[in-house]
Amino acid sequence: MANHRTYLIVALAAVAAIAVFLTLSACGAGDNGDSTVEQVRAEGDCVECHRSATPGLVETYEEGPHVNNITCLDCHNPREGLETMDHNGFEVVRVTTAGHCAECHEDEYDQHVSSRHGAPAWAAVAGNDTAYDGREPFTAEQIAMVPEAHQAAVNRGGNPLAAWEGAGAVENGCAVCHEIGAPNADGSVGNCSKCHLRHTVRVDEARLPETCGSCHMGPDHAMLEIYNESTHGVLFSSMRDDMNLGVTPSELTTKDMPVPTCSTCHMSGLNDATMTHDVTERLSYYLFAPISKERPDGAMGRENMKEICLNCHGPSHIEEFYADADLTLHRTNEMVAHVKEIVDGLYADGFAIAGGFDDLLDYKWFDYWHYFGRTAKHGAYMGGPDYTQWHGNYELSLQTFEFEELDAEMRGH
Ligand code: HEC
Ligand code: HEC
Ligand code: HEC
Ligand code: HEC
Ligand code: HEC
Ligand code: HEC
Ligand code: HEC
Ligand code: HEC
Repeated sequence: MANHRTYLIVALAAVAAIAVFLTLSACGAGDNGDSTVEQVRAEGDCVECHRSATPGLVETYEEGPHVNNITCLDCHNPREGLETMDHNGFEVVRVTTAGHCAECHEDEYDQHVSSRHGAPAWAAVAGNDTAYDGREPFTAEQIAMVPEAHQAAVNRGGNPLAAWEGAGAVENGCAVCHEIGAPNADGSVGNCSKCHLRHTVRVDEARLPETCGSCHMGPDHAMLEIYNESTHGVLFSSMRDDMNLGVTPSELTTKDMPVPTCSTCHMSGLNDATMTHDVTERLSYYLFAPISKERPDGAMGRENMKEICLNCHGPSHIEEFYADADLTLHRTNEMVAHVKEIVDGLYADGFAIAGGFDDLLDYKWFDYWHYFGRTAKHGAYMGGPDYTQWHGNYELSLQTFEFEELDAEMRGH
């Protein structure tokens, strides 16, 4: 009896030692390599107490990929610049930043901050001349992480529409989407939790069109609606239950996801392709601009995207698709340039005041390119015929006449 008990104790001690070793070495594999005894202890203490304090939170954490290796403290440990709190024997931060994630996922972080999901996204609202919404402007170091081609998109003034609408509109609107690239108090940039829910952190959720669509929707960037009406979107909704959306990125193949979602085309490492968190990497034109120009690395961006299509399509199908979409782009550019000339003329001749959002003309012009021009282009490149035509080209045609009549009316002809 006594012998059995000794064996049992020795065996339990060995299991415990292996468990501690595995935890430490697995964290090492995650590149942080310096887990302390306190962190290992934290795993037990935080989870045990939070199972009654916030059971829903612990349950989602336990469904995610971090449950085996990553403790609560790994993501809630103090980092320079962040406000800390004394919490049941631990020092923790309430706000986890992209800087925490970067401690273990450096590549994903570097790619994120070099894309337009980084600093340009925040500067689109806040500009970079003064503190905004409690956040300091980007430092020179943070701006240096942005590729040169997009640095002008960081060094700009605050958005006039945001200024005009005021703090409430910004906090509940613009900022919720554009925070994806906001500066954090620890010097890091961005918010990974906009696509990876903070405690669930599952790739199947990040791959859903609805995740991207929580920001990429509505009249000015109707990607979700366009996707839903595209052949890809329709097929996805009929096949999603049979797809293996949770497979780890390095192993993702067309067998797991035979139909693309937003992430497949813009981010995933499908078959032999390399996964990227730089969503700018596969693009060729600035479609969001009033008049779209080619991007500095546009030709390469287009090749990168085509390589993804070619996992599932033949080359002539894809060449034709791009040739047609380019036609829409050039036609939209022509129409927007024509109306811009009318609008600039009215500003120049003093019939309205240029800049800001204080004339009806400002809004009509903004709707023209920002809603209908963009929608025609986005629809054409992502396979949404109704958006290209009835929400895009038709409105452009109709409103071109309206601008011509408005011009005559204002000038009194
Ligand atoms: C003895 C119980 C207990 C332990 C141990 C514990 N917590 Fe908590 N924690 C709570 C309770 C209760 C709350 C909610 C009320 C509060 O803020 O005190 C909370 C709140 C939090 C908050 C949110 C604070 C806020 O202001 O919203 C974070 C973050 C947090 N805990 C993280 C941790 C981490 C990380 C650990 C382990 C290092 C941990 N907790 C250990 C009980 C505990
Ligand atoms: C992968 C990183 C990560 C891990 C691991 C993690 N958290 Fe969090 N946690 C976050 C993020 C991100 C937030 C949101 C911070 C913010 O408000 O910006 C957060 C917020 C919280 C909050 C406040 C949530 C709210 O809705 O009020 C609590 C409480 C908390 N965490 C507790 C825990 C506990 C307990 C564990 C371990 C079971 C844990 N966290 C593990 C990233 C993590
Ligand atoms: C202490 C290191 C560490 C921190 C901090 C950390 N992670 Fe992780 N993360 C890992 C490890 C290790 C894995 C692999 C887990 C596995 O495969 O069992 C992982 C897995 C993941 C995965 C899933 C990959 C898959 O194949 O399903 C995502 C997504 C992820 N982390 C995102 C984040 C985000 C976002 C944050 C910050 C909020 C974060 N991580 C913080 C170490 C960390
Ligand atoms: C929290 C909001 C949010 C989510 C979620 C989001 N995005 Fe974005 N995305 C933005 C904003 C804001 C911009 C505009 C950045 C800029 O140019 O200022 C953007 C821009 C982009 C761009 C264009 C980049 C460029 O260089 O012009 C692509 C492509 C993109 N997102 C793809 C995605 C995909 C794919 C997903 C989902 C996996 C996604 N986004 C999820 C907010 C979001
Ligand atoms: C529902 C989420 C959402 C809201 C709310 C939102 N945006 Fe955006 N915004 C986006 C996305 C997504 C893009 C990217 C469009 C694209 O790439 O085609 C974008 C693009 C932009 C751009 C063009 C890109 C650039 O870098 O110049 C500007 C400027 C902008 N938004 C400013 C604002 C302002 C100002 C507000 C509030 C008045 C606002 N946005 C509200 C999601 C949003
Ligand atoms: C625009 C949405 C979006 C944002 C923002 C985002 N991710 Fe991801 N992430 C994804 C998607 C989608 C995947 C899965 C890609 C695929 O299909 O292979 C992914 C996968 C990952 C993985 C798994 C990598 C692997 O090889 O197993 C890690 C780790 C990760 N992200 C970390 C981060 C970190 C850290 C940040 C913030 C710096 C971040 N992500 C921001 C969408 C996002
Ligand atoms: C079948 C592949 C595919 C799918 C699926 C897809 N896209 Fe795209 N997306 C493209 C192509 C092609 C372009 C045009 C690229 C270029 O500039 O050459 C594009 C352009 C974009 C842009 C850049 C717009 C700009 O203003 O420059 C954004 C943002 C975007 N997509 C987001 C999304 C979102 C969000 C979803 C899902 C709701 C999605 N995409 C689904 C292929 C796809
Ligand atoms: C993961 C596989 C996959 C990827 C990647 C993919 N597609 Fe598709 N695509 C499909 C499938 C499956 C269909 C439906 C084919 C059918 O009708 O059987 C489809 C249909 C289409 C259609 C509609 C064809 C028609 O005549 O109705 C177009 C256009 C299209 N894809 C263009 C593209 C472009 C452009 C890209 C890259 C930017 C792309 N696809 C990437 C799988 C993919």
